[in-house]
Amino acid sequence: MRDSSKTVRCLFCFMFIAELGASLNCTTSCGNRGVDIRFPFWIKDRQADQCGYPGFALSCNEMGDIVLELPPAGKLHIEKIDYRNQVIHASDPQRCLLRQYSSYSSSVFHLQFKKSKVNFTIFNCSLNNTRPLNWMAPCLSTAHYDVLAVDSELSIEDNESLLSCTKMYDLPVPHDIRLSWSSPNCGSCEATGKQCRLRKNSITELETECYGLHKVISKNSEKKLSKIENLTRVLIFYRYLEKATDYRCNHRIIPFWHFSHCSLPNL
Ligand SMILES: *[C@@H]1O[C@H](CO)[C@@H](O)[C@H](O)[C@H]1NC(C)=O
Ligand SMILES: *[C@@H]1O[C@H](CO)[C@@H](O)[C@H](O)[C@H]1NC(C)=O
Ligand SMILES: *[C@@H]1O[C@H](CO)[C@@H](O)[C@H](O)[C@H]1NC(C)=O
Ligand SMILES: *[C@@H]1O[C@H](CO)[C@@H](O)[C@H](O)[C@H]1NC(C)=O
Ligand SMILES: *[C@@H]1O[C@H](CO)[C@@H](O)[C@H](O)[C@H]1NC(C)=O
Ligand SMILES: *[C@@H]1O[C@H](CO)[C@@H](O)[C@H](O)[C@H]1NC(C)=O
Repeated sequence: MRDSSKTVRCLFCFMFIAELGASLNCTTSCGNRGVDIRFPFWIKDRQADQCGYPGFALSCNEMGDIVLELPPAGKLHIEKIDYRNQVIHASDPQRCLLRQYSSYSSSVFHLQFKKSKVNFTIFNCSLNNTRPLNWMAPCLSTAHYDVLAVDSELSIEDNESLLSCTKMYDLPVPHDIRLSWSSPNCGSCEATGKQCRLRKNSITELETECYGLHKVISKNSEKKLSKIENLTRVLIFYRYLEKATDYRCNHRIIPFWHFSHCSLPNL
């Protein structure tokens, strides 16, 4: 009786270890804004390298925004990631794209945006750290002069923040900012409700593979889901079985299927 309860406990502990090892959870977010960050994207100071693909590193700022650094275009904030169509919807709070006359391409992303009929008025100002932060255009500024981009429809007469500034010109406001990528190609994988990851043991080439059954596309499939979940568990369990033949128990190496003789410390 005692033995069999140990066996059960042992079995659960093996399944737990097996699930931990088999599925590194690489899905995360920067806050509660509902944008999932997953492969090929990863948060570089928070997640393991194998969670992402080169060139797709992101970071989170203190406000919980997802930041994509795209030199020389600047730091963009990610509003939405369309994993199926491989497109990012972004915003440009630092107004770095004002510098870009047309579209821009990095080795990873192709960037496009529209120019609205509304303009920013660009000011050249002497340094003064009391100005509203949302007017600052750090990408256009230099070490000795601040450049400000102010909505040209705003009434700015007599605004003390613009006292030591000279008006330079008007520039259209970039909007509908889109960044698309073609490699790695995970869109077709995502479209089937699965997820993409780096293929294991592929050190030389950055190959990806489709895996997982976590997301379910059709709605009327609760039964299917639990069957699939059960199947996943069984598969993970057997995958672990393959590797577990040398489980160390009571300082002896025993085959996994003898684990019932094994007295693990009480958990
Ligand atoms: C992975 O972690 C995220 C956030 O911690 C969570 O929302 C998600 O459900 C997890 N996915 C799996 C498959 O456990
Ligand atoms: C924006 O600026 C352009 C050129 O500087 C000008 O032709 C256009 O009328 C301006 N738009 C508005 C809404 O002021
Ligand atoms: C701002 O004005 C200063 C002084 O006139 C000038 O030296 C500097 O180049 C200007 N900066 C820009 C970005 O035009
Ligand atoms: C100048 O503009 C800023 C930003 O819109 C605003 O917060 C501030 O109250 C304005 N100051 C004056 C004197 O109008
Ligand atoms: C900065 O601007 C404020 C007004 O907004 C002004 O009182 C102050 O003297 C300015 N400082 C410098 C160093 O120009
Ligand atoms: C999945 O497994 C649980 C027990 O682990 C069982 O109760 C359930 O009926 C199974 N679901 C399906 C659809 O087989």
